Amino acid sequence: MLTQVAIVGAGPAGSLLALLLHNAGIESIVVERQTRQHVLSRVRAGVLEWGAVEVFRRAGVGARLDAEGHVHSGTGIAFGGEHVFFVDIERHANSRFMAYGQTMLQEDLYLAIDQANVQIEFEVDHVAIHDITTAAPSVAFTQHGESKRIDCQFVVGCDGFHGPAKSAMPAGVLRTYEKTYPFGWLGILSETPPLEQLVYCNSERGFALASQRNPMLSRYYVQCPLEDSVDDWSDDRFWHELVLRFPDRIAKQIITGPSIDKSIAPLRSFVAEPMRFGTLFLAGDAAHIVPPTGAKGLNLAVSDVHYLSRALIQHYHDRHDHYLDRYSEMALRRVWGSVRFSWWMTSLLHRFPDHTEIDQRLQEAELAYLQSSDSAQAAMCEQYAGLPFED
Ligand code: APR
Ligand code: PHB
Repeated sequence: MLTQVAIVGAGPAGSLLALLLHNAGIESIVVERQTRQHVLSRVRAGVLEWGAVEVFRRAGVGARLDAEGHVHSGTGIAFGGEHVFFVDIERHANSRFMAYGQTMLQEDLYLAIDQANVQIEFEVDHVAIHDITTAAPSVAFTQHGESKRIDCQFVVGCDGFHGPAKSAMPAGVLRTYEKTYPFGWLGILSETPPLEQLVYCNSERGFALASQRNPMLSRYYVQCPLEDSVDDWSDDRFWHELVLRFPDRIAKQIITGPSIDKSIAPLRSFVAEPMRFGTLFLAGDAAHIVPPTGAKGLNLAVSDVHYLSRALIQHYHDRHDHYLDRYSEMALRRVWGSVRFSWWMTSLLHRFPDHTEIDQRLQEAELAYLQSSDSAQAAMCEQYAGLPFED
């Protein structure tokens, strides 16, 4: 097979990139290890920065997002079993955000890709990326036992944290940074009306979060030990624990019901840099992971793809590589900003196994400061809303 850009991975990053390139008349082929149904069944994040919403609109997948996404002007924070305050993002950062599930977004992306006739090869195996120091790299793989190859001009690794693209860079080029947090998040989906607002909660029993997908679909999380499995958590145990963590006036608004999905995810910060070597580029979870507390994972994938699509469009349309040459540094500035913010939100809101009394008092002091200071809230809002893209 022959194309301009070969993309490894058809999650949100790879699908969005293929679509933006197609809209600009640039050809790509996407290869994906899983089946389409598998990708569509993954329950993931649910918060979109306004800048990300605009990228999806520009890609031509804004219609359902605009019709069904829930626009928020801020978020709630609860702590100490009694305090609840609202952080007004619209007032402090002149921006809003949207609650819209990544699962629905992935459906929208695949529908648009089908309509555009962009080629995605599902169920591929043994992906190997070759000749990235040349202008004619290739991606070899097998599909249903048959060996295949894509010859191209650029390869983009959108293959998530476990994908093979990073390791196609020669030894010594890639530097990685990693921090694993000593707890996980147990998340459930239930067909119950959610709270009106998102509410992040620091409690002595551990972190909790009330989120939402649509007017009849709620998403809730509780911090849990890494060793726990979903079998340890019956629905009854989950709801019981969740309402104990929130202050009464929030807890009594929570409507419980059977879960339709339940999973545990570990929390980590990870960055691989540079995000380009030769004709290979990395985007999304392939290059970085953030703990979900700042709601940044999907948004970072979108900002990488925004920068990279702009760079490839400039390369093909204007025969100019200004943005391609700056892709890694530009993307990484935003990545490190979000890694820092996500670490700060995580540190502020969770109970750590080695938590001492002074750690506890420091968290309380920081939360009280955030509650009472406009300046502290403005700093949080600027990050939560997402910094503007660089020109
Ligand atoms: N060959 C082909 N495809 C692969 C391979 C491989 N060897 N390894 C992984 N993949 C695919 C995965 O099956 C997945 O569909 O790459 C895709 C990567 O998608 P995501 O993990 O969703 O990553 P990304 O597209 O960067 O989106 C980031 O997803 O994990 C969330 O919080 C994260 O919301 C953020 C978003
Ligand atoms: C979610 O709705 O899944 C969600 C919301 C906010 C977060 C993380 C996850 O910070």
